[in-house]
Amino acid sequence: MLSTTFFLLTVLVTVSNAAVTRRATRCPGGQTVSNKACCALFPVLEDIQKNMFADDGCADAAHTTLRVAFHDAIGFSKTKRSFGTGADGSIFIFPEQELSYDANLGIADAFNLEAPFIANHSIGVADFIQFAAAVGLTKCPGILRPQFLFGRVDATAPAPDGTVPEPFQDVPTILARMADAGFSPAELVALLASHSIAGADDVDPNLSGLPFDSTPSVFDTQFFVETLLKGTLFPGTSGNQGEVESAMAGVLRLQSDSELARAPQTSCLWQANVNNQALMAKSFQAAFAKMQVVGQDVSKMVDCSDVIPEPPVLSTTAAQAFFPPGLSRSNIEQSCKAVSFPNLPTKAGAPKAVPSIVQDPATNGACQDDGTACVAPFTKST
Ligand code: HEM
Ligand SMILES: *[C@@H]1O[C@H](CO)[C@@H](O)[C@H](O)[C@H]1NC(C)=O
Ligand SMILES: *[C@@H]1O[C@H](CO)[C@@H](O)[C@H](O)[C@H]1NC(C)=O
Repeated sequence: MLSTTFFLLTVLVTVSNAAVTRRATRCPGGQTVSNKACCALFPVLEDIQKNMFADDGCADAAHTTLRVAFHDAIGFSKTKRSFGTGADGSIFIFPEQELSYDANLGIADAFNLEAPFIANHSIGVADFIQFAAAVGLTKCPGILRPQFLFGRVDATAPAPDGTVPEPFQDVPTILARMADAGFSPAELVALLASHSIAGADDVDPNLSGLPFDSTPSVFDTQFFVETLLKGTLFPGTSGNQGEVESAMAGVLRLQSDSELARAPQTSCLWQANVNNQALMAKSFQAAFAKMQVVGQDVSKMVDCSDVIPEPPVLSTTAAQAFFPPGLSRSNIEQSCKAVSFPNLPTKAGAPKAVPSIVQDPATNGACQDDGTACVAPFTKST
């Protein structure tokens, strides 16, 4: 009986291996992928790994490439064609228009960083933006390997102003904009896990690289904990539009994150991520995959997920959420009525300022924050 089971198992394993082997293709560079079309991504991957991300981990370049991927994709509406064609590269193809919009303040950094690489490769602008974001994410411990579909159609027109949510907008306005682009409140909260590896360069005009949580180089759940702490201070001398008080020196809290953390529509979704690394990582992976193909015909795209590198693992110990030094559960503004806030340990030591995120010098360039001199050095036909 036992030996029969073993025999059957052996046969099954052999058959499934054969199926995988038959589908696989070898690329000119020696890599194995399931679809030959994906081979075109390896020269891009090698170039950006070495020269754009330059082995600097889950740092400024990874954050910058992630944010622009959202701002490009959200230029879409289920009801209004004029809002754009989604993840279509329009933000870089029409930079002088789109980067002049208030909500795109700071996206010039992404343009300066990425445009020279786009110009040097033959893949489309839309694909490049989403590919760079997916590869950048794999530098962040705690992330699950992003999917990557290849074959977007580049934009022929810019997205208009008003598609990107602003940090000073109220919760109903933000939820309505996201719904209009096809995203539920749960998917928005899932996507906002990205603010766990993020910071602000322009919200406070006097300071840059102000992180949104105390661990901006790790995709952990601290962002969801820390945004629920009672705000007590501004990282600068005062607050600016779209900013509210945070709970830790050096950390900037967006008004939108603060309100979404507390609003009845989203507070329980928000709190559910606290100390639940698996939920946060999985829901982000799914929502991000959806975001990356907004407005695109996925039936015409190729699954090239196997080109995306395996991200570093976050150990269970490192994934343990905590209250920052000096703070405890009594500082939490409990907003989810249905579930009490989990007990977390307080990190030992005295409270100290969270360091700012070091800015990648390649994000400085000719392209300005108001969109002037953001000339696309690439002419691409779709
Ligand atoms: C309610 C929706 C959202 C609002 C209001 C919002 C707002 C902002 C603001 C104001 C900044 C700071 C920009 C600066 O001053 O440099 C920022 C940074 C960032 N956002 Fe969002 N965001 C939203 C959703 C998202 C989503 C869905 C993603 C990605 C999936 C994302 C990814 C990022 C990243 C990675 C940064 C950091 C950029 C960097 O450090 O260079 N955001 N966001
Ligand atoms: C683009 O290619 C040119 C010619 O090979 C090279 O000189 C330049 O450094 C490349 N730019 C980037 C950003 O890699
Ligand atoms: C930036 O600096 C100016 C001049 O010191 C100050 O008046 C302003 O309040 C500062 N802005 C913020 C957001 O702290």
